[in-house]
Amino acid sequence: MNTIGIENQTKEIISKELNGLLATYEVFYQNLRACHWNVKGEHFFELHLKFEELYSDAQLKIDEIAERILTLGMQPLDSYSAYLDQSAVKEFSGVSDGRTCVSIVRENLNTILSLERMILEKSDESCDSGTSDLMTQYISAQEKVVWMLTAYLS
Ligand SMILES: [Fe+2]
Repeated sequence: MNTIGIENQTKEIISKELNGLLATYEVFYQNLRACHWNVKGEHFFELHLKFEELYSDAQLKIDEIAERILTLGMQPLDSYSAYLDQSAVKEFSGVSDGRTCVSIVRENLNTILSLERMILEKSDESCDSGTSDLMTQYISAQEKVVWMLTAYLS
């Protein structure tokens, strides 16, 4: 057991998955910044702001995920090389077309959602309700963002 009463095996399994999510969020964060900086065209003002809102949210989640890993008694990944190695989304750069940016962001979010659902399944199985609670909050908010991005693209 660790200091918060979670089985050692559970903390290791959950932390490994959370580290994968953390790595993915770090790359996603930089993808959002790239969109914020590079987007051009008639929707510049709304998209520039929307990407800022999304990267600010990702920044908060990055910290929450890393601190959840520490709370479980494990070590969060803390280097860009590890993030690039373990991220489930690819980095992209130099894209200035707004629709392409929105569609990549939506795709990245769908990948993140599937990671979170997988983690939720494991944390539920192991009665790690702290992690489950975090994942549930992320999932419901991001499903709404995916709906909005889809509405934008349609
Ligand atoms: Fe800015």
